[in-house]
Amino acid sequence: MGNRPNTRNLLITIVGTLVICSCLISVSQANHLPEQRKRRELSQCNIFKGHWAWDASYPMYDSSKCPEIRKEFDCHKYGRPDKYYLKFRWQPNDCDIPRFNGVDFLTRMRGKKIMFVGDSLSLNIYQSLICMLHAAVPNSNITQPSGGMKSWFFQDYNVSVTMYSSLYFVDIEKEESGRVLKLNSLKNGKIWEEMDVLIFNTWLWWNRMDDKKQWDYIQDGDVIQKDMDRMVAFKKALTLWAKWVDSDIDPNKTKVYFQGTNPMHYDGKEWNAPGVKGCSKETMPMKGSSYPTRAPPVLEVVKQVLSTISKPVYLLDITTLSQLRKDGHAGAYNGFHGMDCNHWCIAGVPDTWNQLLYTTLLM
Ligand SMILES: *[C@@H]1O[C@H](CO)[C@@H](O)[C@H](O)[C@H]1NC(C)=O
Ligand SMILES: *[C@@H]1O[C@H](CO)[C@@H](O)[C@H](O)[C@H]1NC(C)=O
Ligand SMILES: *[C@@H]1O[C@H](CO)[C@@H](O)[C@H](O)[C@H]1NC(C)=O
Repeated sequence: MGNRPNTRNLLITIVGTLVICSCLISVSQANHLPEQRKRRELSQCNIFKGHWAWDASYPMYDSSKCPEIRKEFDCHKYGRPDKYYLKFRWQPNDCDIPRFNGVDFLTRMRGKKIMFVGDSLSLNIYQSLICMLHAAVPNSNITQPSGGMKSWFFQDYNVSVTMYSSLYFVDIEKEESGRVLKLNSLKNGKIWEEMDVLIFNTWLWWNRMDDKKQWDYIQDGDVIQKDMDRMVAFKKALTLWAKWVDSDIDPNKTKVYFQGTNPMHYDGKEWNAPGVKGCSKETMPMKGSSYPTRAPPVLEVVKQVLSTISKPVYLLDITTLSQLRKDGHAGAYNGFHGMDCNHWCIAGVPDTWNQLLYTTLLM
């Protein structure tokens, strides 16, 4: 007899609980909805396809307050007179990307170690990131740990950002005959794999000839020779790196990026300005989404090798958007007074590379 009310009570309790639960669930969903929707929108969008749009609120920071800009990149300090190059925002065709938010970046990265590995173009993006983060939290405790590597530590967020110079990824060893570039040896991976975020880049030095290159011999398997096809050598080294990613990277700990091939602007023919030598007179980006000249052929090799990696590696595909920025290089406004149409002004285009890096954290 006493069973009935108990059952009814139980039913009421269950129904009531369900109603409360579903209310709670929809409340929490509502809280996460904008971020979820944004995440979905961004992951379905090719954030690297788009155009440069005028934005009066740019640049993202005042470069004269940045704690560290190498003289190759500090165009403001070395007297660049035009300012339009600072005033363009990257606008993807199919979505809006978030503005760079340094506090949010540091919060998401709390407790993490970030490292850029590569040549001076890694230094270019690294110093831009330091400027942007410093501008976001200028009064927080930011220190430069001593030691061999360039590094900044954001103590209040327990985030370190480090630059690891590596021109080729693979090793160069001094032997009796001279310096040997070893396409089959990659020892520095032991240091890199301790990181939480790695952003790799190499190519610039593979193409350097004679007195500029940093080695005397090149070793491929057991064969040591004076030189070889540089693209072939590059592909072999990058393939070794790819195998290292697959064997040694723990994707639950470390997120791996590859910074796409950097375009130079030395030959006006490439941007429909035949006869123009160098980028010194360029003050405006190209209009639209396409560049008259295809990407450097090495980008295809990069994409091929990346496609052989089974672990996730994200290509920060900055080539085309940077091709459109013939106005963004340091040009004559650097501490060396040479013409540099390879590296980029800071503030400038690398800030957008970092904005896109930040965007991938929200995907
Ligand atoms: C800072 O982060 C490291 C990992 O990078 C962690 O081992 C350490 O406990 C953290 N320190 C604090 C004070 O949170
Ligand atoms: C900043 O960090 C350094 C190194 O840990 C420490 O010695 C110093 O006291 C800190 N300063 C402030 C203001 O917290
Ligand atoms: C990563 O984490 C997932 C889920 O915790 C686990 O199943 C997987 O084995 C881990 N992968 C590696 C390589 O440790």
